[in-house]
Amino acid sequence: MANEKVVLAYSGGLDTSVIVKWLQEKYGYEIVAVTADVGQGDTELEGLEEKAIKTGASEIYVEDIREELVTDYIFPMVQSGAVYEGKYLLGTAIARPVIGKKLVEIAEKVGATVVAHGATGKGNDQVRFEFAIKALNPHLKIIAPWREWDFKSRSDCIDYACQKNIPIPVTAEKPYSIDRNLWHISFEGGILEDPAREPDKDMFRLTCDPQDAPGEPETLSISFDQGLPYALNGQKYEPLELVLELNRIGGRHGIGRIDLVENRLLGMKSRGIYETPGGTILSFAHRELEQYTLDRETYHYKETVALKYAELIYYGLWFTPLREALDGFIRTTQQTVTGTIDMKLYKGNIVVKGRTSPYTLYNPDMATFEEDDLFDQKDAQGFINLYGLPLTIRGLMNKKKAMSPQEVAKS
Ligand code: ARG
Repeated sequence: MANEKVVLAYSGGLDTSVIVKWLQEKYGYEIVAVTADVGQGDTELEGLEEKAIKTGASEIYVEDIREELVTDYIFPMVQSGAVYEGKYLLGTAIARPVIGKKLVEIAEKVGATVVAHGATGKGNDQVRFEFAIKALNPHLKIIAPWREWDFKSRSDCIDYACQKNIPIPVTAEKPYSIDRNLWHISFEGGILEDPAREPDKDMFRLTCDPQDAPGEPETLSISFDQGLPYALNGQKYEPLELVLELNRIGGRHGIGRIDLVENRLLGMKSRGIYETPGGTILSFAHRELEQYTLDRETYHYKETVALKYAELIYYGLWFTPLREALDGFIRTTQQTVTGTIDMKLYKGNIVVKGRTSPYTLYNPDMATFEEDDLFDQKDAQGFINLYGLPLTIRGLMNKKKAMSPQEVAKS
């Protein structure tokens, strides 16, 4: 097996450092580390090259995929309106397919036959990575050390690292599992496993406590063109910069904190805490604009599509015919989702201030309680008679049944 190459999804943390050594020992592979820059921040990316080589990798690729993540994954998700179980804006889930895609691309480039990742055997992320890999190159073999080795915990990993002289990252032990990217940060496990327990105040990283947010509201406007945001307060932004700026704005008003007990794909419930400041504002504004511009039937139908789209993302089913087909529907609906939403941000809340759109279907002449000449109130009577006909028919039947047979015969 010597000289066979494996591409490893590498973060530089304890687990993936141990995995480098373990893969070498167990399989004799040459390790190509791959780190996707999805906006996890400089502290996580700093010194990765050196670390990877010292740990035993033969080379490392650090790929900046932030723009691709925003443009090809996050914005379509926002347009779809996907929210998992009413709360989760899918920050971890949406990044997995594009990371999987990069792993496949690099595997093909360096001639690797195997892809390995450090996701555990209980979580959603293993499924998402592997679905992406299978969809894009089913010939690649997949290794998930957490499902194979005998280490049970972090301390088992540390023991192994010490035994094998693996330079372990000097970061302090984190009391929970954290996943961060440009869209969100998630916290799970450790002390959060008790759903009755409120998270510590100092856990949060992207948002301030709403209680400590400014006492004055901040106004903000977001402009969209065909469902795609392109300006904040009238100033144009590239997609990535727009999201980063919204994170800063939302963060200082304590917007986008969520605490959720969710259903994982593998069947168990788990408790997660999320911070998605910019995403929360963007999703809010996009929905407002849709409510202003889409016709009733399309909007209602789109709400059911959003539920399915959220499941597809959560379950890792991004590279599927159904997701592509739903994208076709969503793209069509976005043709008139153009305009601007004005909001006020205040202590964790977003309040809509105003909306403008050249395509709105809101017609003040129609909605007014004053007299108008477009709508003849007399028409409403016929509408009610016909649309309510089934109710009338059933009501008649019920009345008849309540009568005695003699009364029915007479009636
Ligand atoms: N429960 C969330 C999800 O499945 C977050 C997962 C966080 N992943 C992690 N490796 N910490 O999308």
